[in-house]
Amino acid sequence: MLSKFSALVKDALFFLNAPICYYCYVILFLLLLFSCGSENHSAEQPLGVAPKLIEEPPLTLFDLTTLLEGNHPLVAKEVTAQFDHTFKQTKQYKAYLFKDVLDYFLAQLEEDWVKSADPAKILVTYECEDGYNATMTLKNALSQDSYLAFTDLSSEEAAWTGKLAAKMSPFYLVWENIPYEDKRFVWPFGLSKLKLTPYEVAYQAILPEVNMAGFQLFEQNCLKCHSLNKVGGLMGPEFNYPKNILEYWEEEDIWAFINNPKSYRYSSKMPPIKHLERSEFDQIMAYLEELGSKEIKIN
Ligand code: HEC
Repeated sequence: MLSKFSALVKDALFFLNAPICYYCYVILFLLLLFSCGSENHSAEQPLGVAPKLIEEPPLTLFDLTTLLEGNHPLVAKEVTAQFDHTFKQTKQYKAYLFKDVLDYFLAQLEEDWVKSADPAKILVTYECEDGYNATMTLKNALSQDSYLAFTDLSSEEAAWTGKLAAKMSPFYLVWENIPYEDKRFVWPFGLSKLKLTPYEVAYQAILPEVNMAGFQLFEQNCLKCHSLNKVGGLMGPEFNYPKNILEYWEEEDIWAFINNPKSYRYSSKMPPIKHLERSEFDQIMAYLEELGSKEIKIN
């Protein structure tokens, strides 16, 4: 202990007696040390922040079936869907207002990140029993009144029975006055879960760097049923993980298939997609190709 102390004193004395250029070396060394440090820091910062989002996405998943047990303050209303997009006629339902349901579930959250976020940057995923995952931004979802229907008042039985019940229950999302041509609003049936995710978190595994238009077209037309890197619907097959679809399907076959799936498979469950322009389809293909050329990110 004592010898250590005397060594220190010796060092200090040497320091005081040292020539000026010795201090110069020390200062130079310190300067070098600090400049390296700050360079490292600024280079690492963006990398250090981004992955944290991936590890801890504020993700909220609600199980809608709990509503069927009663025990909640929500009041069901009678609703008329003037243009029912699934049944192509006017229909009446017993239903809960979507906004009430959302408020009810959000009120039970400890930390309500949804309230402080921009609704245009939040993705609502309507998860259905058959693997169909419809999505809309929260802003669009709340831009018109929508309802979670659970009883069909226009049918004889005043309830879904048999095959229809299996298809529509527990909930069917309906809108009051959306014309048939307006495709911005989704009509998921067999709806059982509601998921809210920040846009960048929901799509971070599939956002492109180049083909943004292609991504948006895929999102609007295909993602409900087809996943990419495990993001999206499960009704149809995945298109990028582990192998990109363009490695085993020709573009011309995909174009012909989506226009008329039954011309390839008599039993195909995919509805024909007729409204896409060829140029829009090409953009989707460019996006899929870009995704295929990148390292796969899976959440
Ligand atoms: C409503 C759901 C739905 C939508 C929307 C949809 N698909 Fe499909 N798709 C399916 C299902 C289900 C299959 C499974 C095979 C079948 O039933 O023919 C399928 C199969 C396919 C196949 C055959 C793949 C294979 O390996 O068997 C291709 C290609 C395809 N879809 C492309 C598309 C593209 C591109 C879009 C968007 C422009 C799209 N689909 C939109 C449901 C859908």
